[in-house]
Amino acid sequence: MAVRTNSSVQNALWLLNPSFRSRGSHFNAHLRLGQKPSRGALFCTCTSKINTRPNDEAPKPFVITTPLYYVNAPPHMGSAYTTIAADAIARFQRLSGKKVILITGTDEHGEKIATAAMAQGSTPREHCDVVSLAYKMLWEDLDIAYDKFIRTTDCKHEAIVKEFYSRVLANGDIYRADYEGLYCVNCEEYKVDEKELLDNNCCPTHLKPCVSRKEDNYFFALSKYQKSLEETLIQNPDFVQPSFRFNEVQSWIKSGLKDFSISRASVDWGIPIPNDKTQTIYVWFDALLGYISALSDDREQHDLLSAVSSGWPAQLHLIGKDILRFHAVYWPAMLMSAGLSLPKMVFGHGFLTKDGMKMGKSLGNTLEPNDLVKKFGTDAVRYFFLREVEFGNDGDYSEERFVNIVNAHLANTIGNLLNRTLGLLKKNCQSTLVVDSIIAAEGNAFKDNVERLVEKARIHYEKLSLSSACEAVLEIGNAGNSYMDERAPWSLFKQGGAASEAAAKDLVIILEAMRIIAIALSPITPSLSWRIYAQLGYSRDQFEAATWGETKWGGLKGGQVMAQPKPVFARIENQTEEGAEGTAVQKTVKAKRKMTQPQGLAQA
Ligand code: MSP
Repeated sequence: MAVRTNSSVQNALWLLNPSFRSRGSHFNAHLRLGQKPSRGALFCTCTSKINTRPNDEAPKPFVITTPLYYVNAPPHMGSAYTTIAADAIARFQRLSGKKVILITGTDEHGEKIATAAMAQGSTPREHCDVVSLAYKMLWEDLDIAYDKFIRTTDCKHEAIVKEFYSRVLANGDIYRADYEGLYCVNCEEYKVDEKELLDNNCCPTHLKPCVSRKEDNYFFALSKYQKSLEETLIQNPDFVQPSFRFNEVQSWIKSGLKDFSISRASVDWGIPIPNDKTQTIYVWFDALLGYISALSDDREQHDLLSAVSSGWPAQLHLIGKDILRFHAVYWPAMLMSAGLSLPKMVFGHGFLTKDGMKMGKSLGNTLEPNDLVKKFGTDAVRYFFLREVEFGNDGDYSEERFVNIVNAHLANTIGNLLNRTLGLLKKNCQSTLVVDSIIAAEGNAFKDNVERLVEKARIHYEKLSLSSACEAVLEIGNAGNSYMDERAPWSLFKQGGAASEAAAKDLVIILEAMRIIAIALSPITPSLSWRIYAQLGYSRDQFEAATWGETKWGGLKGGQVMAQPKPVFARIENQTEEGAEGTAVQKTVKAKRKMTQPQGLAQA
């Protein structure tokens, strides 16, 4: 329970910056409603005094963020999951012509990190350097095309946090109080609602007992924002997604907001409170600001407003459901207090679980993303988690399911279709397209079906339904396989004459569908999509310049020469190897360029 002990702290900013006046009204961010969102749920509009821009300025970038990951331990598949999803969404938005800023980074302050460093016999800074680098390396291995990587130990971040703190203080929203409560170090959170705890005061996420703490701290007057937050949710029903999480947030707010402590007297590893060196800023108050400080360019002087003018507010914060309260309640209130715009949307996805339990560093039941990438490749890992887990819900990992899905979809439906079509084209048409794809498909219902499915995929991407987007693209592959089997071009070629000409057109039709698949799946499987593109005779530059608009039928032209057929995705095989002492060991490995016999080639 917080007890106010000093109400004059709010005036301290006068000492720091007398020109900064405390404002009576805390809610400068207002929501422009009644405006029709142009692109589904993502584009509701918030403005504030600070963010108002003249109309003639360049369109605002699409800013999307991942959480900033704690560096107490190396990344695991749970942490990689949010980042893969964010990267897929960012890639889709880029394809759609937006300027995108994908922000990720590491959360490096606080008790949990200091303790982890000590356990390793390192200083906190050395420890953070090592783990932060591990995140960067993993993002590279997972083909994450981030634009900004913020570390909360960066100088620019510290400067912006202090400035933000001062604005909130000047607004009269910070006071000093004693606090006593139960603290979960793994969540870095006082548990305000003790009913949520398990037996023995255990944290339901980390299954470890919370510890009783008593501290003299600075508090943020969250309760003052009760009404503003309620109004925000009413006016922005898409602010929190999926909708069932919106309801959860609404009920937290309705149950009454309590002020929360934003400093720690007992933690040295943090940003000192301006004007009180005996306390450091609470790690969450510090880390959330990484979403803004990341936008600051690397000049010598860093200030809040220039960072804000580089893209704030974010369009989308992607987070896991365990940190929803911080993002959908605390963070908007902090922003209101500082007079800044709110993010447009907070999307809380579910957990990757192992045996039904959240996979995590604290429980020690993690899955190593590096091992998965080494064993199965980046595309397989990205595809599996985005396809298999309905974005927003929990999803369990099993290697058997992984192998089945990836083999069926990427190796068979897509890879094999491309390979057998190119094989037939090589054998019968010197790897050259006989006619423009638009002409080949005149009056053909298959083309209409592909156009319908790719539009379906686009709508799902817009709605962040990544699994359904994958499904729609895969349906194109399934339709392509059925078309191939029905038409049996290998038989038509044998007949010669008009039948042979029709078969050559059929190959153009299938390859055009493959081209569309490559673009439409590129947010999910960028490397595989590039390999498909290369097989279709395009250069890397052409692949990189491709836009979503090019998913329209008609890209492939007569005379285009395809590359030599080469499998774009190797099947994952179960191999039985001899282990120590002659025992048989089952090993799942990617086949080396081994493909199933291209159907039709044998008969052709
Ligand atoms: N540092 C805070 C975030 C600060 S954002 C300003 C934090 N870090 S974390 O490393 O513990 O978690 C980062 C993200 O990883 C969270 O969104 C969390 O939900 C996600 N995941 C961690 N384990 C996960 C799974 N097993 N499954 C899916 N996501 C999970 O919280």
